[in-house]
Amino acid sequence: MNNDSSSQIVEKLKKIIDSSAPGTRLPSTRSLVTEFQASPVTVQKALQSLSMQGLIESRPGIGTFTRSSGLTRPADYSWQSTALGSARTRRTAAATPLGRPGNDSLSLHHGYPEPGLLPSRLVRSAVNRASRSESALACPPPGGLPDLQRWFARELAEQSIGSVTPTAKDVIIMPGSQSGLSSIFASLVGAGQPLLVESPTYWGALLAAENAGVQLIPVSSGPNGPDPVELSKAFDRSGARMFYAQPNFANPTGAQWTAALKEQILAVVRRHSAFLVEDDWAHDFGIESSSIPLAAADDSGHVIYIRSLTKSVSPSLRVAAVITRGPARDRILANTAAEAMYVSGLLQAAALDVVTQPAWNTHLRSLRSQLSARRDLLISSLHAEAPEAQLELVPQGGLNLWLRLPEHTDLKLLTQDCLRAGLAIAGEVNWFPAEPAGKYLRVNYAGERSAEFPEAARILGEALRSQ
Ligand SMILES: Cc1ncc(COP(=O)(O)O)c(C=O)c1O
Repeated sequence: MNNDSSSQIVEKLKKIIDSSAPGTRLPSTRSLVTEFQASPVTVQKALQSLSMQGLIESRPGIGTFTRSSGLTRPADYSWQSTALGSARTRRTAAATPLGRPGNDSLSLHHGYPEPGLLPSRLVRSAVNRASRSESALACPPPGGLPDLQRWFARELAEQSIGSVTPTAKDVIIMPGSQSGLSSIFASLVGAGQPLLVESPTYWGALLAAENAGVQLIPVSSGPNGPDPVELSKAFDRSGARMFYAQPNFANPTGAQWTAALKEQILAVVRRHSAFLVEDDWAHDFGIESSSIPLAAADDSGHVIYIRSLTKSVSPSLRVAAVITRGPARDRILANTAAEAMYVSGLLQAAALDVVTQPAWNTHLRSLRSQLSARRDLLISSLHAEAPEAQLELVPQGGLNLWLRLPEHTDLKLLTQDCLRAGLAIAGEVNWFPAEPAGKYLRVNYAGERSAEFPEAARILGEALRSQ
């Protein structure tokens, strides 16, 4: 016997499969034993391996057949939809600006700053120190490490203008603000209940709300923020008790509410005995202006404030804070405990280490000028290369430009055309809780290869003109 090993038989059979039409019957195991002069066990092992690679399929009692070369028959999971019933949300994580493009494309789509904009040296040494600290092995309190709670409370207290300033016990540490949003919507709004949201707004907030079964009620919001009169009417009409908003450098519009508007909106919220969920996601990304939290003026528990460090410290240190008082805080904490128990003490210790180093503030100052240069380069590149894309507001902070595109734009096609030409854009992300107000594209100026913004704008412009 020649005694071919099963891997040699696999290779020989692959050649036969490659040259056969899909559905061709393979010789019987007995013939293969004879042909390869191998034992029946070795031949069986080779057939099993080919089957696991999806190259052949055995039909019991009939024989073994080739599949189309290298392509597996698509799996059929359709039964799962029948079993699960209707989906809570049609927004999928795939249609989000999270992942980086797999090839060497330019990118204007990603929502997190590239590593070059992060305090990388601070993060690396903080993680090292945290790994040697007690937090690496201990179970932190459910609300978070007291020192980190104190840091978040102090940051907000420094901007407070109300008579009550936040304290450490008002702070709940969360594994990112996305978790905070999910907890708030699930524990304070609940399935089937209305939630007012700016339109457009952050896709992840819409996803979290729909996932909690909440009914989304849009409140139109543009470069000047929402209209307080319209907000008041929406509260009256819907009976909603909560409004989710981003008063500073909103994602995606870039809008920052004036001090007067902040006061008016807070008055509307108070009058309706409601909550405002203030997502201060871009607190560390001021450019000409700084983020002034509306929560700083709240002394009666109407504002639930969320601030995250995932974008400014590191996307790997998923640490954020929800700051609120009263029964709302207790319910959010209970929900968080049900979902995740607590946030890793190791991550909390590392995040606290970063933001308490003197070099943190130096980093934030340099970030301001880097963001300013990137934003301006992208704006001038778009102006020169893609004048069809109109910018309604030059944001004074944040990471994004919100572009209005011609009405006839097919966003899916635009996304595909750009990707083919080497540019990833977030054209298919849905920022609207109901019907979109037009054709819009959010472009992010915090991604990699910012020196190539002119080329990115050229690709976008050409794709727009080819529609
Ligand atoms: C407005 C807004 N809120 C919340 C988040 C979620 O951030 P985190 O990483 O803290 O969960 C994002 C991330 O893109 C965001 O843009």
